[in-house]
Amino acid sequence: MNKQTKRIGVLTGGGDCPGLNAVIRAIVKTADNDYDVEVIGFLDGYEGLIENRYRVLEVKDVSGILTHGGTILGTSNQADPFHFPVLEDEDYIYLDRSSQGIRNFEKLGLDSLIAIGGDGTMAASARMMEKGLPIIGVPKTIDNDLAGTDITFGFDSAVVTATDAVDKIHTTAQSHHRVMIIEVMGRYAGWLALCSGIAGGGDIILLPEFPYDIEAVCNAVKARNAAGKRFSIVVVGEGARAQGGKMVVDREIKTSPDAVRLGGISRQVAAQIEGLTNIECRVTILGHLLRGGSPSSFDRILATQFGVEAVHMVMRGDIGQMVAMKNGSLGMTPISEVAGKLRKVTPDHPYVQVAQSLGISLGVPVDEPLEEYFVEEVAK
Ligand code: F6P
Repeated sequence: MNKQTKRIGVLTGGGDCPGLNAVIRAIVKTADNDYDVEVIGFLDGYEGLIENRYRVLEVKDVSGILTHGGTILGTSNQADPFHFPVLEDEDYIYLDRSSQGIRNFEKLGLDSLIAIGGDGTMAASARMMEKGLPIIGVPKTIDNDLAGTDITFGFDSAVVTATDAVDKIHTTAQSHHRVMIIEVMGRYAGWLALCSGIAGGGDIILLPEFPYDIEAVCNAVKARNAAGKRFSIVVVGEGARAQGGKMVVDREIKTSPDAVRLGGISRQVAAQIEGLTNIECRVTILGHLLRGGSPSSFDRILATQFGVEAVHMVMRGDIGQMVAMKNGSLGMTPISEVAGKLRKVTPDHPYVQVAQSLGISLGVPVDEPLEEYFVEEVAK
């Protein structure tokens, strides 16, 4: 055990999600209980490290936060230390502030930093590690698209919220005999759409990984009507697109490392279905609703396990690693192997197979192999 460690830092980076506070709580309690180590929390992700904004976290500060959504530390998805946006004359310039971050870390007498975040945070952490910052990663995101772990915390809670929405929309779909299209977040991966679609009894699920054929989608709707089921539920991932089409960009945030914010594909799908079938459609875009609320019990346990393990990793000296869940057991993956990669839904994934066995349309003609529609790279 690393007896030298006296003080560790923690930050939450990227989009928030349920479970962040549960990780912070687990880190502070474990550091105190098992090792008598002090914890400093940087505010607003890497922004706080660069700007030297932080607070000391004592056990009393994390009392009662297990059930709270968001993060008591604040977060930012626009704080790349190597390309740090600084407002100058009403416009942003971008500076490499990574050395400032290292200096602040050293001045505080920290021994290591626990970075809780998704792919953007892990990518920044990989580069900060190359500059000598000793980092342990904790994987979070509602998108569940992080490489090196089977699951991220935050995802289950988002699935629960999305499923609840699909359930509620089901009844109005039935009453009005409509096609209801529900768009969920998830960026370039379809995990959230796939899981909430299956859990909510969706009839058609459109994922970024399988650009859809609108005729196949309409055929699925018509087949249901012909069978006497006069409504359909379509769950669409925000990164879905038609065959030969493009993802729908809602806005671009130029200060963000990945500037693209997706949203709005469901309106295209609705217009196309209405045009080709004459059946009335309605659209619901769930958006940031999926990032809010109290973490599910699954996420509370997962986030707590991750937080406890991250502190053990610090004390064991497993620097440069991200805590991970692999085949149901805690493990770890080098942060350098996670950065820049996305974990996407694949045609052979058991959930995809289940969807197909249930007759859920994935927007592909029924007589054609799904593999032929699979697109792994991100086509923006
Ligand atoms: O990565 C989490 C996520 O919620 C994505 O699902 C979504 O595309 C994006 O963040 C939205 O980002 P922002 O909060 O900047 O609008």
